[in-house]
Amino acid sequence: MALTQRLLRTKPTEQIVAEGGHGEGGDLRRTMTLWQLTLFSVGATLGTGIFVILGQAVPKAGPAVVLSFVLAAITALFSALSYAELAGTIPVSGSSYSYAYATLGELVAWVCGWCLMLEYAVSVAAVAVGWGEYLNSFLHDLFGWTLPAAITHSPGDKGGVINLTAILIVVLCSWLLLRGASESATANTIFVMIKVVVLVFFCVVAFTAFESGNFTPFAPLGVAGITAAASQVFFSYIGFDAASTAGEEAKNPKRDLPLAILFSLLIVTVIYVFVAVAAIGAMPWTEFNPESTEASLSVIVNQATGATWPGIIVSFGAVIAIASVVLTVMYGQTRILFAMSRDGLIPRIFQKVNPRHQVPVANTLIVTGFIVVLAGFIPLGQLAEATSIGTLFAFFIVNIGVIVLRYRSPELPRTFHVPLFPFFPILGAILCLLVMAGLAGVTWIAFGLWMLFGLICYFLYGYRHSRLNTEVTP
Ligand code: ALA
Repeated sequence: MALTQRLLRTKPTEQIVAEGGHGEGGDLRRTMTLWQLTLFSVGATLGTGIFVILGQAVPKAGPAVVLSFVLAAITALFSALSYAELAGTIPVSGSSYSYAYATLGELVAWVCGWCLMLEYAVSVAAVAVGWGEYLNSFLHDLFGWTLPAAITHSPGDKGGVINLTAILIVVLCSWLLLRGASESATANTIFVMIKVVVLVFFCVVAFTAFESGNFTPFAPLGVAGITAAASQVFFSYIGFDAASTAGEEAKNPKRDLPLAILFSLLIVTVIYVFVAVAAIGAMPWTEFNPESTEASLSVIVNQATGATWPGIIVSFGAVIAIASVVLTVMYGQTRILFAMSRDGLIPRIFQKVNPRHQVPVANTLIVTGFIVVLAGFIPLGQLAEATSIGTLFAFFIVNIGVIVLRYRSPELPRTFHVPLFPFFPILGAILCLLVMAGLAGVTWIAFGLWMLFGLICYFLYGYRHSRLNTEVTP
């Protein structure tokens, strides 16, 4: 087969679906309900973005940061609709990687899988780094203790040597994941409940100190400020697609995955807008510190009440919130690698399922090791931007994938249809490119190098070991 034919070969949708759930040595267990899947995506989404990045984005846009959240949500929504359609049609664990394999061919699927590593593994590392900051502020407010900077910051950042707190949360979540998908989903459900209750608590307290005057002037930094802040807070929406990595462990994936993706986006958008309005109403936007990586929400409730206990509650919520992001996003990464391994594009060890716990154990341990290295040794800011660019590229591919699959296989049963087709997916793809264009040049360079490295890996390994090499392709 010619090189281009091999790079562009697609995997039949029926085959992808038929292989779902099966690994080497055992099968994954179908346990997750619509409720758990929705909370899985909420768990993966609601975290550092609202607890930390909101505070950094306010000085960029002023009170209009509320609009930045809406703008970022709209950008995410078009892609979420595309995800919903493909997740209902191809309900497996590989998320956009599998969708790309069915629609745009092996090379694009590989590129997509490689981007998903930025969205999942790298973002978990970024989020784990933020966790240490919150743990510290929680311990400080409660007991007056402060963990030494050497073990709570990455090297080169505020006297850090190794970020042990980030490593701790990654290892704890890995332990939970190894116990089983159902156990992890239950833990996540509890975590999500706690973080939502804490954010509602935040809103209630902040509204007691609400000053409508804080909203004038509403957009002191103009449209440019609003869009700049929107690019930054886009990070807080990353994760709504996490349910699409649980396709092989869902009870009724065709019906539930599209709903879970859309419900979760709706839930987090409503929460974000309320929190942003409450935060600005309680503290003038000029008092937010763009450099702060600490608990701006805690400061706000403490100022609003003149006490310290509300801040302790908020810090506790953040500690739990971020733990659930780490848990669900790590889960997602292992399942994407599982799907890639089953296709032969990465080594077989990633698809080995432990028959007792019905989870991919070796895969989970390798992912843990990788994230520990990133989280322990690299500062947060550089990671967050790298995450957004990879995610946006994967979203872009999903929007294009919907269009291709509709034309190529119109007969496939679809449980959800993107409205106003093809207008919405086209708009979704364009919006992704626009937000990507707003990211810093250095991020693009890092992205280019990451992709180059990915292509080298593909030609050295995936290209030769692809299971399609030994199968008849259509
Ligand atoms: N959306 C996730 C967060 O904000 C990545 O932590």
